[in-house]
Amino acid sequence: MSNTRIAAVDVGNDSIKALFGELEYELNIPNIVARDTEDRPVIGIEELDSKNPLDGIHIKVHSPALKENNAIYRVGNLATKSSNATELDPGSAKSEEDQTLVMLFATLALDAVKEETAEIFPRAKNVIDANYTLGTGLPLREVKEGKDAGYRSKLVGSVHQVEFLVTPKYQGLKVNIKFNEVKIYPEGFAAYINLVMDNQLKIINKDLIDKRILIQDIGGLSTDIAVIKNRNVDDDKAQGFNLGVSESLEAIREEIRTKHGVELDSRRDVVEIITRKNDRNHIMVKGSRTSVHDITDRILLELAKKEYRLLRNVWQKNSQTEICYFVGGGANVLKEYLKTLNNNLDGYNIEFFEDEKESIWMMANAYYKLITDFVRKTEKPKAVKEPVKN
Ligand SMILES: Nc1ncnc2c1ncn2[C@@H]1O[C@H](COP(=O)(O)OP(=O)(O)OP(=O)(O)O)[C@@H](O)[C@H]1O
Ligand SMILES: [Mg+2]
Repeated sequence: MSNTRIAAVDVGNDSIKALFGELEYELNIPNIVARDTEDRPVIGIEELDSKNPLDGIHIKVHSPALKENNAIYRVGNLATKSSNATELDPGSAKSEEDQTLVMLFATLALDAVKEETAEIFPRAKNVIDANYTLGTGLPLREVKEGKDAGYRSKLVGSVHQVEFLVTPKYQGLKVNIKFNEVKIYPEGFAAYINLVMDNQLKIINKDLIDKRILIQDIGGLSTDIAVIKNRNVDDDKAQGFNLGVSESLEAIREEIRTKHGVELDSRRDVVEIITRKNDRNHIMVKGSRTSVHDITDRILLELAKKEYRLLRNVWQKNSQTEICYFVGGGANVLKEYLKTLNNNLDGYNIEFFEDEKESIWMMANAYYKLITDFVRKTEKPKAVKEPVKN
């Protein structure tokens, strides 16, 4: 059997987070795709070579798992600039969208084409045969509906090919992706695992393990609240809401544009302005340092109130809860607002992560822990010597 490589992939509505191998490589790609044609105009081949492949992901995807096979896509940053870009619709099922698969395959292919990966996966001319042991997740809601089985079988049953078209460095390369194994974990449960266990799945948080806890994951487009009891996710209590930070970030961007005439490139820029250590909530307007605190404060407080209402609602239904952890990128952005609201209102026992990366990479880290543990447990002891065939 050929080599297989571990991949832990969190397909977030806002961005994909992926960890590979011995954790030596990670990827974070905006979850955005746009349909395209064979040739996208580029200035010249020199420019193509010097650019970052991640800014020019332009691929054709062949896979029986897709509803639309052999379609061409711009992915991530490159798609942002397209007028026909699509982001996942909050109401849709992650497990049933082509976009989820396109993002997943693109992410794996970007790992497989790297020079560093060449020693693991065989390369014949321009074709790379990649084999992954994948840990990933789906929203609790979809797992509850049994959609994980269908999603898994779509992945394991076939070969999925990503062909790089006009992408810097990788133009003309094809990656055939096969899965040695695919494990799909429910998102809320994964967050819990990450909280209480280390990479060897040893318990690192004895105090927490038997507590009744809530995990409120504030993402780009959705908020999920997992209810943990008896070391397990309480399926019936978990709730998902179509509320995330993307809309508020967009509103801030829009108001800065109309009020100050300053066009920020993306929501990412807004995040930078509201979270940076120095000069937070300030922008330059015609060369003058200008506060946008009034705008950010009002919009974020509004969102924080909505998030707080969700917490209150779920806590009321789970009155014996001992602590709630806020995770996801939204937790970073709303941390101070939520703390203040909580101090002035119900005074729940709530907790945030100091390190913003920990909060955002929570799911990917959890899938990594779970999939490496799975591999450890199923690995057969290596035979001392292969019998010689002749
Ligand atoms: N340090 C940060 N780096 C990047 N994004 C951040 C950061 N802090 C906050 N954000 C913002 O938080 C939001 C949510 O990010 P997150 O990665 O948690 O969403 P997601 O998991 O992709 O989405 P969902 O949970 O809805 O599927 C994004 O809009 C992002 O811009
Ligand atoms: Mg998320």
